[in-house]
Amino acid sequence: MKNNTERRDFLKKAGTVFGVGIFASAFGSVITSCERDEIVAAPDPETIDLDMSKYPQVSAVGSMAIIQISRLDGSPLKLFLKRASEDHYIVLEALCRHQTGPLELPSADGGPLRCILHGATFNTDNGSLITNPTSDTIPDLVKFRVFEFNKQTNILRIEV
Ligand code: FES
Repeated sequence: MKNNTERRDFLKKAGTVFGVGIFASAFGSVITSCERDEIVAAPDPETIDLDMSKYPQVSAVGSMAIIQISRLDGSPLKLFLKRASEDHYIVLEALCRHQTGPLELPSADGGPLRCILHGATFNTDNGSLITNPTSDTIPDLVKFRVFEFNKQTNILRIEV
């Protein structure tokens, strides 16, 4: 009888020590992995009102421009603007995501945006990659959300 009680006590203690060991091991690896894989949060989207009367080069339907604005923190942001219709603009980030090459406007109507650095070309309606002269993977351009264009105030509200 005494042997059974002693054995039960031994097993309880061993189980507790074993359980703590597993927990410490798992918790330690979580901490270690947190130290290794630093997670950087994406910046919160910002709503920006663009006064389109400042950009007469993109007032006609079908016209395009590359402009520079500032985010709320003051950092610069280049935008490609295209007036798709009387009521609608297309807004893309004017920066190639391969190696941050600058973009140039199409040389002809209906032509693509072209990266000056390595020559990738992109669709002006949605930023999708058309040609990739490199052996690397090149993502599409960032397309920003356009909320509305108020023709009375000439304000284009976008999210960047
Ligand atoms: S940086 Fe644009 S294609 Fe390389």
